[in-house]
Amino acid sequence: MKKKILIIAGARPNFMKVAPLIKEFKKLRRSFNVKLVHTGQHYDFEMSEIFFENLNIPEPDIYLGIGSHTHAAQTAKIMIAFEKTVSKEKPDLVIVVGDVNSTAACALVCAKLHIKLAHVEAGLRSFDRQMPEEINRVVTDHLSDYLFVSEKSGLKNLKREGVSEKKTYFAGNVMIDTLLSNMKAIVRSGVLNRLGLERKGYSVLTLHRPKNVDLKKTLNEIYDIIRSVSRKINIIYPIHPRAKMMIKKHGLLKKFKALKTLTMIDPLGYNDFIKLTKESRFVLTDSGGIQEETTVLKVPCLTMRENTERPVTVGKGTNIIVNRSGKKILSSVNKILKGHRKRGIVPEKWDGRSAKRIVDVIKKDL
Ligand code: UD1
Repeated sequence: MKKKILIIAGARPNFMKVAPLIKEFKKLRRSFNVKLVHTGQHYDFEMSEIFFENLNIPEPDIYLGIGSHTHAAQTAKIMIAFEKTVSKEKPDLVIVVGDVNSTAACALVCAKLHIKLAHVEAGLRSFDRQMPEEINRVVTDHLSDYLFVSEKSGLKNLKREGVSEKKTYFAGNVMIDTLLSNMKAIVRSGVLNRLGLERKGYSVLTLHRPKNVDLKKTLNEIYDIIRSVSRKINIIYPIHPRAKMMIKKHGLLKKFKALKTLTMIDPLGYNDFIKLTKESRFVLTDSGGIQEETTVLKVPCLTMRENTERPVTVGKGTNIIVNRSGKKILSSVNKILKGHRKRGIVPEKWDGRSAKRIVDVIKKDL
């Protein structure tokens, strides 16, 4: 009998993580019946569908259509819908990835229905419980039967929290599988021409974390930083719907738009975004995944957060934690522009074979 597996994706950063898993399971069609469940946490074309196109992910088999709500409502609605899915599908295993609300919601459903659960990107910790993602990580890890870790800090964190070592596997980073396997399409992307940019002649900004964009005070601090950086180099800012909403709500859109060397654009698809990043001088971001992608692309990354759950990007990669310190950001930018940049090395097992390692474990164990 074929084993049935449900793979869950809900929000933008999930799509590049499920793509290589789906591809790998496809090679084992005879042994596994794999279905993709999209919770619908993200639903805009630029936040979801374009990634399916870019990454050749098949259409979801099951779409829950949840959409945007408060944290509790979103999590609860996903749980109610996914409980029905699990009861109907009776999977042998559910695979969740990353740290978004969809991840934790589906993990809870599996635990209550005694369905085996695998978490890909387990063990990461920012030690900051004010981040919704940190809550999602802790909850998901402690409910999982298989914990696939992307960097060694994850193994240490899980051990400290008392998770049995029998359940943990150092598999590497599936998002980097996607980056490497898509490199041809990335190189082909015409985004630089479209935006009239020259290689290394601009920087990239991404911001969407509640801690940075939800309050007027912090948005104003960020505006001041962006203004100073924009005096030194062009900034391209693909703007997340959440940040756009907040900039508008706080009446700051005019001010942002008035900065001549800041170009605000709609969110980009995968290939265009990675190409934009790859050819940039540096990236200023509060994203999780971009800290990892810049490390592999050897592009300097200034992370506008107090901490990172991905310390290997700082220890080995190109990442520097700068929070909202204008002083730190400007001195880092000045150094980069003078050619003094962190070059870094690619972390262990970020080699394009992580999904294969994960599927091998599941094949052997299920
Ligand atoms: C979510 C994840 C975050 C991840 C980010 C990447 C959680 C807790 N957060 O944050 O970890 O880094 O995705 O994008 O799961 N919206 C749209 N269209 C969409 C999706 C969202 O307009 O397709 C708007 C809605 O107004 C929504 C807001 O963005 O309320 C925030 O969306 P939500 O999914 O709640 O969280 P993100 O900030 O996207």
